[in-house]
Amino acid sequence: MSFSLPFPMHFLSVRDLSREQFCALLELSADLKRRPSSYSTRLEGRSLGLVFQKPSTRTRVSFDVGMNQLGGHTLSLLRSDLHLGRGETIGDTVRVMSRYLDVIATRLYSHTDLEEMATCSSIPVINALTDDLHPCQMLADFFTLQEEFGDLESLKLAYVGDGNNVARSLLLAATLLGVSISIASPSGYQISSDYETKARALAQMSGAEILFTDDPSEAVADSDAVYTDVWASMGQEDSAARRKEDFRGYCVDADLMTRAKPSAIFLHCLPAHRGEEVSAEVADGSQSRIFDQAENRLHSQKALLLLLLGKGEIAG
Ligand code: CP
Ligand code: NVA
Repeated sequence: MSFSLPFPMHFLSVRDLSREQFCALLELSADLKRRPSSYSTRLEGRSLGLVFQKPSTRTRVSFDVGMNQLGGHTLSLLRSDLHLGRGETIGDTVRVMSRYLDVIATRLYSHTDLEEMATCSSIPVINALTDDLHPCQMLADFFTLQEEFGDLESLKLAYVGDGNNVARSLLLAATLLGVSISIASPSGYQISSDYETKARALAQMSGAEILFTDDPSEAVADSDAVYTDVWASMGQEDSAARRKEDFRGYCVDADLMTRAKPSAIFLHCLPAHRGEEVSAEVADGSQSRIFDQAENRLHSQKALLLLLLGKGEIAG
């Protein structure tokens, strides 16, 4: 099915995909996980540039290894290694890179910089996280949910914590795919109204239900999966102490997990701060799927690379 669907040129947000394209990507991810050797030469001769302005463990390593497993190769570039770090424009940098590379995955602070990069690029640009969004994470997260539960549509997802890049992307992905979602954040840290509007438009088409609250127990009640993320994201280190105060009561601990269904799983994009947004007991307990999620970054990003490069047919 995957190969018959045209794919967008860039992947900057979950909203770049239709529901059918997202589902095709999940199907391909599952096949890549099941039969990796069937795809080992699919991207032979192709090059991926990783341009990272912020730290990364999972995203960088999984893109690098994934590209190699597909027969291609990767150049890993910190922004400070490039002339970008000393004044060359984003436009000139990406126009030049488009002459050497086949695809770029980039992690930047500013989402506007990312959009400028995509506008000036003649090769696919992948958002490997900005201050606004983290769409690659969603490919792995909904793949993990599908592996766990099969059908996504009947699920109820709860997110407890900061209305940040991960929360915004989770809201968009859930409402695109028809997964109901409840988000609990303290006042001042809630999802902004522009993303709420985008999500409500998606939910109208998919039938997903949305609840915003400041009560973690209300959000988690009867959910199939409970998700959280750090209270201070990269770039917010200066406000970390204040955030610890403001997020008091928002730790996903064993007590909060008892409000979810007994079959519920715990998800976290990682890195995690045990004792802050999640207790060690939950992060390392039997309901936790955090390392499956991390592994699935590899399979789902391989699917993304194949689909963006027009090589996404399921192997025979
Ligand atoms: N979850 C995630 O994107 O992790 P890294 O910051 O380690 O890439
Ligand atoms: N919200 C976190 C996600 C890290 C993967 C951050 O931006 O730092």
